[in-house]
Amino acid sequence: MKKNKIKFILQNNPLIPVVKFNSMDEIDILMSYLAKHKINIIEVTLRTDVSFKAISYIKKKYDKFVIGAGSVIDKNQILKLMNINIDFIVMPGFDLKLIEILKINSIPFLPGVMTPSEILYAIQNECYYLKFFPANISGGYKILKDYGDIFSKVIFCPTGGINEENYKKFLQLKNVISVGGSWLQKKINSH
Ligand code: 3PG
Repeated sequence: MKKNKIKFILQNNPLIPVVKFNSMDEIDILMSYLAKHKINIIEVTLRTDVSFKAISYIKKKYDKFVIGAGSVIDKNQILKLMNINIDFIVMPGFDLKLIEILKINSIPFLPGVMTPSEILYAIQNECYYLKFFPANISGGYKILKDYGDIFSKVIFCPTGGINEENYKKFLQLKNVISVGGSWLQKKINSH
């Protein structure tokens, strides 16, 4: 089995905009905003009908970006994403069958965990880079700090309730490599 390359993606990208497109018209304005703010990564969640079309479009037009898919929960989604050469995949939970497919195909992946038992299961399966989701209602900064002592080899990317006010605090933790959140897109939409 090949090594998961997610570490390299996360260490170069401390802020990951997690976005949901309802229409193709929303894409260019968001991409220009991100580029202007020197953010070169995007996680497009598979939560709307246009998600795959949006990812294909971004892949073609914004080839300097690292383009991931989020909210991935089944094999068919992974197969479709492989066809459009997705750069990385984020899952809300930890599914070993999906992880095996991703490993075999050398696709960088970030599985989600929330509880200590899920973290232990991830460690047993040699996954050390994990999405901590939903971060804020699962103990937020404080629990991640404790996890740093308990699970010293595990590195997290918290998402869920991260925002402009609290993201820097999370990034200061030694076991947090990057953070993800929808606040950047919400900021643009509110203008
Ligand atoms: C995710 O999928 O990571 C979250 O939905 C992002 O959470 P947020 O909307 O609270 O930032």
